[in-house]
Amino acid sequence: MASDGRVGVILTGVGKRYDIVSAFAEHAFTIAADPSPLAPARYAADLHVYPPRIDDPEYVPFLQGLVEEHGVRAVVPLTDLDIEVLSRADLPAFVPTPDVCEATYDKYHCHELLLRHGLPSPPTVLPGEEPERFPVMVKPRQGSGARSIHPAADRGETEFFTGYVKEPVMIQRLMDGPEFSIDLLCDMDGRCLNAIPRTMIESRGGESIKGTVIDDPELVELGRAVGEALPARGPCTVQAFRDAEIGLGITDVNTRFGGAFPAPMYAARPGHTYPELIVRMASGETIEPHVGDFASGHTFTRYFWQLELDADGKPTPRDIVADGPKKPRGT
Ligand SMILES: Nc1ncnc2c1ncn2[C@@H]1O[C@H](COP(=O)(O)OP(=O)(O)O)[C@@H](O)[C@H]1O
Ligand SMILES: [Mg+2]
Repeated sequence: MASDGRVGVILTGVGKRYDIVSAFAEHAFTIAADPSPLAPARYAADLHVYPPRIDDPEYVPFLQGLVEEHGVRAVVPLTDLDIEVLSRADLPAFVPTPDVCEATYDKYHCHELLLRHGLPSPPTVLPGEEPERFPVMVKPRQGSGARSIHPAADRGETEFFTGYVKEPVMIQRLMDGPEFSIDLLCDMDGRCLNAIPRTMIESRGGESIKGTVIDDPELVELGRAVGEALPARGPCTVQAFRDAEIGLGITDVNTRFGGAFPAPMYAARPGHTYPELIVRMASGETIEPHVGDFASGHTFTRYFWQLELDADGKPTPRDIVADGPKKPRGT
């Protein structure tokens, strides 16, 4: 327990994810760890700290010190960068085992893992191998935030982009049809607690900014199946296309909160939002799976807000309008 009697939770790499930090802070003593003084989400936490770099041997001991000091029962990474480090550490981290973290960090390994589990992944080859057909997507194996992803219409374009992207890539069938994300939560035994699908109407830099939660049993089942096959522990986001010819194909698996945190927040039943469930599990409670139990049909549309920092880098209470964002007006 933290000194205020609440369970302690550390969120790492909080960056701009003010919504996630705020949601945890409703239920737990929340510590935001981020090396950047300008990470706005640090100011949504009860306590914010500057950790050593993830590749520094002091990173894990630093987090372990916080665990001791503040009664932390859950460590939840918000980026891909430290998932594997946390999985290997003696920390109460809501991440999969190291082998699963390693496989999902590399999209080609993830493709192979999905196929081994009989899950649908689009035809994918490595440079030098001939794709079964064009067009394809040339994708970095360790990409994130939709960085350096290029469609290629034929062999010439594929070879060009394979050389142009300065990191290892893979060559995947270009999926047509709509793209979806499924936000799921698994417990520490890899049981899927819920899986909530949404459309991806508009994305910027890997963040989904418009989408609708949908009642699509095939996607709910796909999310559950992926979560339990890996297995995931904690939050996981599965992205898939529904191609007219080959049907569902999984294009990305991230074993952390996805880029559209508000969607499963709005959709979850009261008392069953993912941050609440994580805090309850961290407190030792067993949560019964309730896969498919959520409200659908609601759309989220996201926008920016900001904090003002004074000349000493301290947040001021000022905002561009009094008391922050206004409730929507009009109809
Ligand atoms: N095989 C594919 N076919 C069509 N579009 C794709 C394919 N793979 C990725 N994309 C597009 O690129 C975006 C980013 O790719 P993704 O695999 O999710 O990588 P990351 O999010 O880790 O950068 C996806 O959201 C999707 O819109
Ligand atoms: Mg993605």
